[in-house]
Amino acid sequence: MLSVLKNAFTHAHASDETLTGRKLDNDPVVEGLVSDLVDEVMVINSELNTIRGPQSHLIEKAKKKMDYLASLRGRPLYHNYVGTGAGRGPYVELEDGSVKLDLINGIGIHLMGHSHPRVMKAAIRGALSDVIMQGNLQPNNEYIDLSEKLIQIAGRKSRLKHVWFSTCGTMANENALKMARQKNSPARFVFAMKNAFAGRSTMMAEVTDNPAYKQGLPTYNEVIHIPNYDKKDSLSSEKAFNKMKEEYAKHEKDVACFIFEPMLGEGGFNPSPREFYLPMLEFCRKNNIAIWADEVQTFARTGEFFAFETMDLGQYVDLVTIAKTVQLGATLYTEEYNPKPGLIAGTFSGGTSSMMAGLEILNMLEEGFIGPNGRILKIHNKMIQGLNQLNVTTCKGQVSDAAGMGLMVAFTPFEGKKEQAEALVKKLFNNGLIAFTCGKDPVRIRFLIPAIIEDQDIDLALQIVEKTMLEGI
Ligand SMILES: Cc1ncc(COP(=O)(O)O)c(C=O)c1O
Repeated sequence: MLSVLKNAFTHAHASDETLTGRKLDNDPVVEGLVSDLVDEVMVINSELNTIRGPQSHLIEKAKKKMDYLASLRGRPLYHNYVGTGAGRGPYVELEDGSVKLDLINGIGIHLMGHSHPRVMKAAIRGALSDVIMQGNLQPNNEYIDLSEKLIQIAGRKSRLKHVWFSTCGTMANENALKMARQKNSPARFVFAMKNAFAGRSTMMAEVTDNPAYKQGLPTYNEVIHIPNYDKKDSLSSEKAFNKMKEEYAKHEKDVACFIFEPMLGEGGFNPSPREFYLPMLEFCRKNNIAIWADEVQTFARTGEFFAFETMDLGQYVDLVTIAKTVQLGATLYTEEYNPKPGLIAGTFSGGTSSMMAGLEILNMLEEGFIGPNGRILKIHNKMIQGLNQLNVTTCKGQVSDAAGMGLMVAFTPFEGKKEQAEALVKKLFNNGLIAFTCGKDPVRIRFLIPAIIEDQDIDLALQIVEKTMLEGI
């Protein structure tokens, strides 16, 4: 059915050159202007090719700006960060004149780094469209193109057939939850993993297993948290599965879904083996509990497009949510979980520039980044080896447990205490490297590495980690 529809669509597309919209798409003058514009920006940005410290005459002014922003938001910035709007690859310029090596990228948004010419071009083309923001009621072609691409890559190794856009990961998750609950109505409970992070809405704060993120909020008691894989505990798989079975026995037929991040993101970047999940997934399948992979953080980072592909779990998933790298939120779902009209909608589906840039990023990933010999896994190996090397040489046991998947890499600094990790992240920032923390016990230093990073930039990142560790906190 889909291919019949696609053929009809392609045919319609081929004979539409008389449309003004097609003239705009294909106009050589517009194309030339867009290229010239991006080329000029690239020339200006080309001076940003390594880190530099703040410039003394700008420090005070930048501080005032950050203080002002803090007063507007009602709380200070985490990093002393206000970007100037200029960057190049993994480097970004800040208002205090410093240039940082950015290995956190807006917590995983800028997969192709700062000011990538192809991403900029796509965003400019989006800006030339008649609308800034597309809605679910009146989509343009980019809505179709991005939907088609996502379904094409998601459907290769799963039963996922449909996609619905939203503006962020939280909203994609809310939509997935509603689909699961509607299909499995009146089931109410949610299985989630301990240390999960699912977003900032009321319900996703409940799914999230972190009391600091829901202080003062009532508890709705709709989410049951399952213990994680623990490589130090040979019984951890059994414990997790037993907990699921015990809880199911208490709430039989009242569990709508099982949400899991194929690797915990905010929870600490500790990969779990496929075998850890299998009994739970089989159990959920047998009991009609929707299996929902929250890939908001893992999507496009683990060496394949989806971590469910990397972990060979595609046959199990009913719902998958993504966001960040694709520049908007999306819920992917099987035929069975396609909701009834009225359940999901919303004014915004995403910005036209976001859709075009998101699609361009997916296309770029297919050019040598994905797969067992792709650049993503090479970056991963180099970063992990470098951190392990520091741990056994100059940093002697203080850069431990370097682990993760693909472009998601973390290590435990010192004893993994919160104050140590927080202090280290600030010092790394002052020394030119932007990172962030993850995990609770231990608290780890995390990197969401841009796919365009080059080997010499990884070496520089490792040098900064070493220097900062040796300076102490
Ligand atoms: C696994 C996971 N789910 C959901 C979210 C929420 O996404 P957003 O911040 O785009 O709403 C995040 C954000 O970090 C995430 O890592």
